Amino acid sequence: MTQTTANEATTEATSRASTRASTRPSTREWDAESLGRRFEEVRGHTEALAAPLSPEDQTVQSMPDVSPTKWHRAHVTWFFETFLLAENEQGFAPFQDKYWFLFNSYYETLGPRYARPDRGLVTRPGAHEVGDYRANVDARVRDLVDTLDGGSLEKLTPIIELGFHHEQQHQELLLMDIKHVLSRNPLQPVYAGSPVERCEPDRLGWVEVEGGLVEVGHEGAGFSFDNELPRHRQWLEPYRLADRLVTNGEWLAFMADGGYERHELWLSDGWAKVRGEGWSAPLYWSEHDGVWFEHTLHGTWPVNPGLPVAHVSFYEAEAFATWAGKRLPTEAEWEHAVVTDGQGSQHGRDEQVVGNLADGGSFHPRPAQPAPAGSRLRQVHGDCWEWTSSAYHPYPGFHPPEGAIGEYNGKFMSNQMVLRGGCALTPAGHARASYRNFFPHGARWALSGVRLADGGAPA
Ligand SMILES: [Fe+2]
Repeated sequence: MTQTTANEATTEATSRASTRASTRPSTREWDAESLGRRFEEVRGHTEALAAPLSPEDQTVQSMPDVSPTKWHRAHVTWFFETFLLAENEQGFAPFQDKYWFLFNSYYETLGPRYARPDRGLVTRPGAHEVGDYRANVDARVRDLVDTLDGGSLEKLTPIIELGFHHEQQHQELLLMDIKHVLSRNPLQPVYAGSPVERCEPDRLGWVEVEGGLVEVGHEGAGFSFDNELPRHRQWLEPYRLADRLVTNGEWLAFMADGGYERHELWLSDGWAKVRGEGWSAPLYWSEHDGVWFEHTLHGTWPVNPGLPVAHVSFYEAEAFATWAGKRLPTEAEWEHAVVTDGQGSQHGRDEQVVGNLADGGSFHPRPAQPAPAGSRLRQVHGDCWEWTSSAYHPYPGFHPPEGAIGEYNGKFMSNQMVLRGGCALTPAGHARASYRNFFPHGARWALSGVRLADGGAPA
């Protein structure tokens, strides 16, 4: 195992003084009891997701983008230890000095860290020892929260709340990552869930949106990440949005029409990927005796035409839209359409978000269901993250917070595209209209799909 040098350890020790979390004030009313209860829920949910996985399952890293399950379990624990306990616990000492190095994901401010592509080589600590780490930090966080006075509680609530949402992000990644890990196993293991009956795509409708000078970005009560701010104005020409996601059946038609063989449908970088990596279908699809199969978290099954296509890259989504004579929506178009359709509170209230999220237990996109009462757009939240044509850039006036926590989002605002909506692996309470997910153009292992747009003028 890679060891930190004395010099690195010194750097780590001195850098601990600069972890101070400078986040905006929480907008939700929390007290010690509700914070403690939510902490138990979020932490318990991570362990429930890992429970069906053996220590061996939890150790494998099947490609550099994937992290082992036990790494996710340890890293979210490190987050609370680093950003909450190190600054605020009396007589703080890390659970294990080396964990500081091992489970730092990307925070340069905190000093050296273990190489991401090699996370699968870390056989020790094992999955059970990671459980010990979690239990230790859990107890210390509970003790801290129980002893905070009113002023300290108010001061620390934003970082604790960020810890909840950070852990939820990793719950989704844990599922995306183990899906890839299990896909490499010829025994086709099942994680959970079961397939839905074969069905055909239903009629695709279009929702007209007037556009004009609109406001986008998070507003009001409820949690948001810093990248959803500030709320700002944006001009939108009139446009139309498909009322559901593109289906496997439609993707099969794209493939049958030479979708992966016709360079004129592709952006130059995308075509290079098609040629260089031999793409001929979405990730997790394989053809046997003329029948396409799809690897899912509930095993490998024939591709179901009525389900949303999943695990396609931005390049593939864009090529499909070109083939269909349409385009991808901008992120502002997506958000404005969803909010005016009544499915995304401008005030970020979780109760307005419904859809096929991870709490439904399907862990896979489902056929489009009727829109919620009074709305027209279907499959808005859940099923698949939806690629947009918007590059991931800071909103006007965005400034990352000071300190290590400022590295959370801002430094990734380059060479990535925004996705909206959430997916079937997204925890309940972690989807909202203003949420900006982001992945590189060629990424396919995220549960990403396609919603078409038409008309208007792409920004
Ligand atoms: Fe993280």
